[in-house]
Amino acid sequence: MSDKTYYITTPIYYPSDKLHIGHSYTTVAADAMARYKRLRGYDVKFVTGTDEHGQKIERVAKASGVTPKQYVDEIVAWIKELWTTMDISYDTFIRTTDDHHKETVQKIFKKLYDQGDIYKSSYEGWYCTPCETFYTERQLTDGKCPDCAREVEKVKEESYFFRLSKYQDKLIAHIEQNPDFIKPQTRQNEMVNNFLKPGLEDLCVSRTSFTWGVPVSFDEGHVVYVWIDALSNYITALGYLSEQDEDYTKYWPADVHLVGKEIVRFHTIIWPAMLMALDVPLPKQIFGHGWLIIDGGKMSKSKGNVVDPKILVEKYGVDAIRYFLLREVAFGQDGNFTNEALIQRINADLANDLGNLVSRTIGMIDKYFAGNLLSSRQDTEFDAEIRKMAAVCVEKVEQYTEKLLFSDALTEIWNLVRRTNKYVDETQPWVLVKDEENLPKLSNVMYHLAESIRIISILIQPFMPNTPKAIWEQLCVKDESITTWESAKSWGRLPQDLTIKKGEIIFPRIDIKKELEALEEAQKKTQEKSVAHQEKAKQVQEVSKEEKVEPYISIDDFAKTQLRVGEVLQCEKVEGSDKLLKSQIKIGEEIRQIVSGIAKHYTPEQMIGKKVIVVTNLKPVKLRGVLSEGMVLAASDEAGNLVLAAVDHDIESGAVVR
Ligand code: MSP
Repeated sequence: MSDKTYYITTPIYYPSDKLHIGHSYTTVAADAMARYKRLRGYDVKFVTGTDEHGQKIERVAKASGVTPKQYVDEIVAWIKELWTTMDISYDTFIRTTDDHHKETVQKIFKKLYDQGDIYKSSYEGWYCTPCETFYTERQLTDGKCPDCAREVEKVKEESYFFRLSKYQDKLIAHIEQNPDFIKPQTRQNEMVNNFLKPGLEDLCVSRTSFTWGVPVSFDEGHVVYVWIDALSNYITALGYLSEQDEDYTKYWPADVHLVGKEIVRFHTIIWPAMLMALDVPLPKQIFGHGWLIIDGGKMSKSKGNVVDPKILVEKYGVDAIRYFLLREVAFGQDGNFTNEALIQRINADLANDLGNLVSRTIGMIDKYFAGNLLSSRQDTEFDAEIRKMAAVCVEKVEQYTEKLLFSDALTEIWNLVRRTNKYVDETQPWVLVKDEENLPKLSNVMYHLAESIRIISILIQPFMPNTPKAIWEQLCVKDESITTWESAKSWGRLPQDLTIKKGEIIFPRIDIKKELEALEEAQKKTQEKSVAHQEKAKQVQEVSKEEKVEPYISIDDFAKTQLRVGEVLQCEKVEGSDKLLKSQIKIGEEIRQIVSGIAKHYTPEQMIGKKVIVVTNLKPVKLRGVLSEGMVLAASDEAGNLVLAAVDHDIESGAVVR
């Protein structure tokens, strides 16, 4: 293994629902970089995973009638499948529900508490559950979440706090001394001017109003704030504070954390401050990329405008989608996603430029030389330029990719693709073939075309992992040493007596009009599903919010309700009502009259002699003019069934239920 290491991460994804093409954007970019570094001889660690705790997940799982763990397991399996579909070559998939991760998060929390960086207090403020973020009153925009514009909830609870404010000056100094720490530069300016300079407040880092999280080991009832839990993944994935910490020693500090722009703040303020407190070196870079937007706004489930990556891959193949994502948008900026733009790129860049170059070259070698080039060669006046351009292209691709400027790197490669196509027009093989004397020249032209294609196929490997293999098959490349990255730097590595094998067209042209209709139809179906899902999630949110006003009662609250066992001595229908029964119930020494809405489920005869559970300290009321001094407990479901709550064995009337 190489001693040059490279550690790259994506954010860990919320498994709150199926991921869309915007999510694939971060992962595809990280994957391209990981593949590039491997090709350059680095020992790469590429980590991705899922961020599975928090109130949001607890609520959605509850609404779906499953446990949070069952809920996340299903979606995590789906996410892993998606990454297989997108050809994501991650080395580690970390789940925040992994035992080793939870244990380390507990150790981190305890360590920070023991050394005084975490302290107990109480939190009163606002919380955006979809973003899992705390806000002060002044940070809200029109009373809503400044990030996603959704409703926020008032939170008041006992909490632990992290002394974020203590690290403010140290952080500013670090950013100033390390200009590559936050990239692109605009994000750095935003963090320094909008957050660091105005001043940091200590951060609430535990919650008590729900349980789906990593428990604080020394204080029952508290769970660790999801962002502290989630950010820690970057070191827990390497075995930090565990017995198996070889990866931590080997790969940390990370070379780059790739993140979307909306979470740069967590990664460039909270995360480095945590690491400073832990006395752990900071990552070398946090790169905040832009969003894939649609109709001018962020792709999101709530807008019902999400694009399903699996549909796109099924239709056009994974390499085409990866190419589009990395080529269309300058990494760092926002970029619009449209079906037209996607199909146009596939047609123009992949079918016309690259696909055509490969098929015409292979076709001509097949036609003019029956698949075998002549070894005798003669130069043409156009050869030197193409050779030079290929050499320069490799250098530029390296420079751009090192800086995560994928779109620029691909532009350079496509300049070479187009220049090579132009070389065909310049050398005019169809004219050369007419004169036998020109065959050495023609053979030379074909060789130059094939060599240029070989170099192009090597350079596209990080971005399009499957296309190179399809090209090499047609060029009959068996020798792996001529497809290494370094081999792209030397011209003339293909055998002089090259043999080719005609194969399938690598990127067929798409009929844009027909395809747009088919694509829109397919996407409409998934969007309808997604809107239905969104509606449900909204309802859940509403219900949960109501519940949240007082999520728990104390034992003292419960003790306020007096429950006793009663025996029904007499029972009859309440006159004029088909729902109510009036019972005389013996509770210890006392006999009470209680009216219950159970007449549709029990006859008076069935009631007599039953032992029931009665709430005895309810304020007496009159129902249909009949006095009721308490309430008989019963269970009912949505289907309309009702049964009386009963005691398991016979017990004296008057017994206390608690
Ligand atoms: N769980 C947090 C990250 C914790 S990291 C310690 C989270 N998850 S997420 O699932 O909401 O987002 C994961 C990544 O997908 C983020 O980098 C986010 O920016 C990215 N994207 C989500 N929608 C996107 C677009 N429409 N366009 C580009 N990237 C987008 O945040």
